[in-house]
Amino acid sequence: MRSFTLSAADDFEGWRDAARTAFQEGLSPEHVLFHVEGDQRSLLDGLDQHKANNTKSSSDVHSKKLVATTDFVALAKCVVCHSHEERFSLLYRMLCRLQKDKRLLSKMVDADVHRANVFAKEIRRDMHKMKAFVRFRETGISADETEQFVAWFEPTHHIVKATAPFFMRRFAGMHWSILTPKGCAHWNGKQLSFSAAVAKSMAPKEDALEDYWRSYYASIFNPARLKVSSMTSEMPKKYWKNLPEAALIPELVQKAQVREQLMLDSEPTVPIEAMMAHRQKPAERPKASRIRFETLDELNKDLSGCRMCPLWKPATQTVCGEGSPNSSLMLVGEQPGDQEDLRGLPFVGPAGQLLHDMLTETEVADAYITNAVKHFKFEPRGKRRIHKSPSAGEIDHCRFWLKAEIELVAPKVIVALGASAIRGITGKRGLVSELRGKPIELDKKVRLVVTRHPSSILRAKTAEEKHLAHQELLSDLRLAKSLVDALPPE
Ligand code: URA
Repeated sequence: MRSFTLSAADDFEGWRDAARTAFQEGLSPEHVLFHVEGDQRSLLDGLDQHKANNTKSSSDVHSKKLVATTDFVALAKCVVCHSHEERFSLLYRMLCRLQKDKRLLSKMVDADVHRANVFAKEIRRDMHKMKAFVRFRETGISADETEQFVAWFEPTHHIVKATAPFFMRRFAGMHWSILTPKGCAHWNGKQLSFSAAVAKSMAPKEDALEDYWRSYYASIFNPARLKVSSMTSEMPKKYWKNLPEAALIPELVQKAQVREQLMLDSEPTVPIEAMMAHRQKPAERPKASRIRFETLDELNKDLSGCRMCPLWKPATQTVCGEGSPNSSLMLVGEQPGDQEDLRGLPFVGPAGQLLHDMLTETEVADAYITNAVKHFKFEPRGKRRIHKSPSAGEIDHCRFWLKAEIELVAPKVIVALGASAIRGITGKRGLVSELRGKPIELDKKVRLVVTRHPSSILRAKTAEEKHLAHQELLSDLRLAKSLVDALPPE
């Protein structure tokens, strides 16, 4: 038996090097053991078997080169984050089998393939929960006058490193730390760093942000949509203890029926109009003297009061762009959806989760994300608000803002997610199917990568269509990433 020590629970590179060595030494999966440094249980296993280490004959050394498909590498990078102690052995076994059977991963009924996919699914779910349930608390002001935020989160798997780029994109302007019992992530506005696990006692206690979360949650809670079972499956009780707003749930659920009746009895509301009523002077349209904005904050202030087309009326709020204001990469979607409209942030609904997972998979850590149209266009249907695509005229009105954002962020690569984004960016009609897959020069300094919108994956009818759509979007994001990586240093 040969044992390999990995430096961390999510040490993909360590596992890959160990697997390569084990394979070249001709070791079959039953004769290889992986353990994580400092992990008592597997360390004992390793010591038990260490004696057998040197008994292997050198005659069974593999002369063949080890080959791993891109799909396998992507799956392995994800599966190493699982907390199951057999994950590394499972991957080594699959890797050995892959040498004889290149189509192994397509055999969904195979026990190893099935198990690895279950692990990957559990990890994606855990990452999704971390993105949804991390709550920052303000802990003070640093020497350079920047506010510091700290959050405590308890992931099931080793997902902190894999999920941190999401928070970096989303909270690029804040300095934050996410503390967890499985390692911590820190962002200082410039650099992402990681440190060892900490105990919950290190996390900050209640602060003023708790009230903010509670009032925010109470305001977006729609009693008409209450389904306790799906709510507890979306927000499992294990996360409640760290969520300030969770204290409200029992009361909101209890009052839901009464509130629903009140909603049905009352007139339809027009949220922005209602909000604007107590404002002194709603910004009708940008002032001529302010056609050029100095900063994104300045732009967003005027954008929030935009009345250039009627889409602002039924919307809850304007959804401005988000992310790193100096990023070389800008992603442009179509328009906010239901969740984005309620939360005031782009790409936080199902299509957004998918997009962020794919950005994580393609290792895009830094991007500015916005939409061609800044208000949610929908058709009320019963209790639901059904997405409606914006018209060419609505996109054209909103181009004013998109162009100003592009000027301020000055990205070198822009990704257009779908046809509305193509029109918003170029002012022209364009088909994704004709334009995707190759970079297009917008001007000397900026290249455009056209791709499909992530919601097209969610809408795909068959598993095959879904798979194809997923692969296309992934490969276009990889193309955009490679263009950014190839940029000369500033
Ligand atoms: N779809 C988009 O195009 N943008 C969003 O922000 C969300 C979904």
